[in-house]
Amino acid sequence: MASKASITKRGIDVESIKKDFPILGTSMNGKRLVYLDSAATSQKPIQVIDAISNYYKTFNANIHRGIYKISEQATEEYTASKVKLAKFIGAKSYQEIVYVRNTTEAINLAALSWGGANIKNGDHILITQMEHHSNIVPWQMLAQRTGAVLDYVMLNEDKSAIDESSLEEQLSKNPKIFAVSHASNVLGTINDVKKITRMTHEHGGIVLVDGAQSAPHMPVNVSEIGCDFFALSGHKMLGPTGIGALYGKRELLDSMEPIFGGGDMIRSVGFQDHTWNELPWKFEAGTSNIEGGIGMSAAIDYLNGIGMESIRKHEMELTRYAMEKLGSIAGLKVYGPDAKHIKNRGGVISFSIKGAHPHDVAQIFDENGIAIRAGHHCAMPLVEDVLGVGAVSRMSFYIYNDEKDVDAAVKAIGEVKRIFKLN
Ligand SMILES: Cc1ncc(COP(=O)(O)O)c(C=O)c1O
Repeated sequence: MASKASITKRGIDVESIKKDFPILGTSMNGKRLVYLDSAATSQKPIQVIDAISNYYKTFNANIHRGIYKISEQATEEYTASKVKLAKFIGAKSYQEIVYVRNTTEAINLAALSWGGANIKNGDHILITQMEHHSNIVPWQMLAQRTGAVLDYVMLNEDKSAIDESSLEEQLSKNPKIFAVSHASNVLGTINDVKKITRMTHEHGGIVLVDGAQSAPHMPVNVSEIGCDFFALSGHKMLGPTGIGALYGKRELLDSMEPIFGGGDMIRSVGFQDHTWNELPWKFEAGTSNIEGGIGMSAAIDYLNGIGMESIRKHEMELTRYAMEKLGSIAGLKVYGPDAKHIKNRGGVISFSIKGAHPHDVAQIFDENGIAIRAGHHCAMPLVEDVLGVGAVSRMSFYIYNDEKDVDAAVKAIGEVKRIFKLN
């Protein structure tokens, strides 16, 4: 859990949080590492690293199999991690939490299992123009297999949010499912998924929320949202790579068939047939990512120790600070909601500098010890077709970032301008 010192009257105490992240004490290219790429993956606190190491050192064993002490302990800790995650996102029980590798696998599981059984030729599947490839390709594959139609909700004129009239127009086609990101990894836009869910339900469809960029950064309550599925990745929320989750309403998961068969997902097996295990295990064939579950547990403890409300507030303030600084730089364009709409955006800032390629920008940042991302950010339809650029640079914040990190980024932009002789 984050130390008590992490929360002060002023908000979260970034200086003491930084100390929990060993990597932030290192340097890159001889400069203090400034990590501004948490939308890609977050750094890990020592509490998570230690929890994983402690598992291997003291109770490494397979789960659900042994009747000896350390196997029982591993089983208990793995299940406890699901109980914790269920509470963290407001699910009703751990039976609604299927552990998978990441958000991508969670969405594919829903598309293959639920989609495979429910989507037929001519049905409508709805997504938006701001989706990550993870929330596009599985639906394209499903549509191609079944003959369903894949529709897109367009973005508004300034390309910062979903266009309301396009939303209504697409919902009037009564899509069977609307798969929508909670927060965009390019624009930073936070979608009103509660309203979207209500509207989609009124049209008889179900909703999958891609929570890869929301669960790590803001309070999430799937029961309040009312969504039918919710996908997330552990590695973006201080946990290890290789663990993620698909939340599904219990009745929905109960009605679905597993996509993988093997050990652990069965109740009984005969020579010709088998019966399935209960939820959530029927979707988890083979040995699970036990260290992943244990790391996830420690990550949730750490986030809860700070508080998701405080994290959201901190990121909002830091984003506001960054947007103000960036807004005064000539030739710099920020994508997504503007500074006046800070409540509608997360701590992801994509930008471009007139006269400098985003990859060159990222390289100059790198030389200055600053990790940012450049490219299409796995959202080619959005970046190339909607924004009309080949690539953008992106900085993204988390609990261990502060104004000093933003100032370092602004200084690096000055370097870019100096090198490329831009005004
Ligand atoms: C909005 C969004 N959805 C899905 C993903 C895919 O996450 P993962 O690679 O962990 O499956 C990402 C990753 O960046 C993302 O930002």
